[in-house]
Amino acid sequence: MNQVVTKTTREAEIVSLDDLYREAERLDVTPGWVSRDRPIFWKEPRTDFVPMHWDYKQVKDTLASAGALIDVALAERRNLILRNSFPNNNFATVKTLVCAYQMLLPGEVAPSHRHSAHAMRVILDAKGSYSIVDGEKTPMESGDIVLTPGGHWHGHGHEGAEPAYWLDGLDIPSVHLMEPMFFEEHPDKYEKITSVAASSRFRFSRDSILTRLDSAKGDPAGAHGPRVTLEAPDMPTMGLTVEKLGTGSQTRRHRSTANRIFVVMEGAGQTRVGEETFVWRRGDTVVVPTWTDFHHQTTSDSLLFCLSDEPLMRALKYYRSEYL
Ligand SMILES: [Fe+2]
Repeated sequence: MNQVVTKTTREAEIVSLDDLYREAERLDVTPGWVSRDRPIFWKEPRTDFVPMHWDYKQVKDTLASAGALIDVALAERRNLILRNSFPNNNFATVKTLVCAYQMLLPGEVAPSHRHSAHAMRVILDAKGSYSIVDGEKTPMESGDIVLTPGGHWHGHGHEGAEPAYWLDGLDIPSVHLMEPMFFEEHPDKYEKITSVAASSRFRFSRDSILTRLDSAKGDPAGAHGPRVTLEAPDMPTMGLTVEKLGTGSQTRRHRSTANRIFVVMEGAGQTRVGEETFVWRRGDTVVVPTWTDFHHQTTSDSLLFCLSDEPLMRALKYYRSEYL
């Protein structure tokens, strides 16, 4: 016996592609086979983000001028954000991370707050400044790397004689992408100090980093010099490393899917990123966007800090690298 298939009214009405696309629009579905302005797949990583370099001295001079114009008690933070310069971007430094140079004047205290985003700081020029994390006061001085995992109250203060400068790195662009943003100002504005600690799991002092570098190993294939990883298990979006390169070193050209932001803690040299060559000195920042080849050359003994999203890429099984 022949089975009779009865078409529904809608199905009977869809007899042309135009009918089909009209019905798809009504149902909020989109055909996977149509061509799009932004395709669904592409062959290898590509990005709007461009290789960049910031000259610390120039930004520092600008921040010094901001000291007289911006009251940190009102501004929350006196910082200048390193926006990647592609059109219509006014925030992110690389796709997943943002950096800013920040300054605090002697005697100032920046109000406490907490947020979902994880944060770290590379302390560039500071003596007598400190961080308050969950009530604990910890020194924050030149050469230190300081962490503030998401959700912890944090504020900063400065008891030194000269302005304090550092570079902040946060994963705010990742939070924007995934949308779990929470932000709260501290109910007391300035969190009370309940304890004072010279060492903290949130602080890697300059001395401790240098001691660890003495026995650190470089990449056998030459992609990086002797390097230590600063463990930040509560901040899984960020990779933090410090690499030591002697005078006249050259690293091997390579690339990876990770986005990298180098901060020159000490020394001088240059970094080739894609088609650009950036000459750098202490305090400068160099950006290597995803899948862009790079290598360093030094003209003096150098310490390079690197903030990257490599742990995030690895956790998601998106990490890939190659030597060139
Ligand atoms: Fe913050």
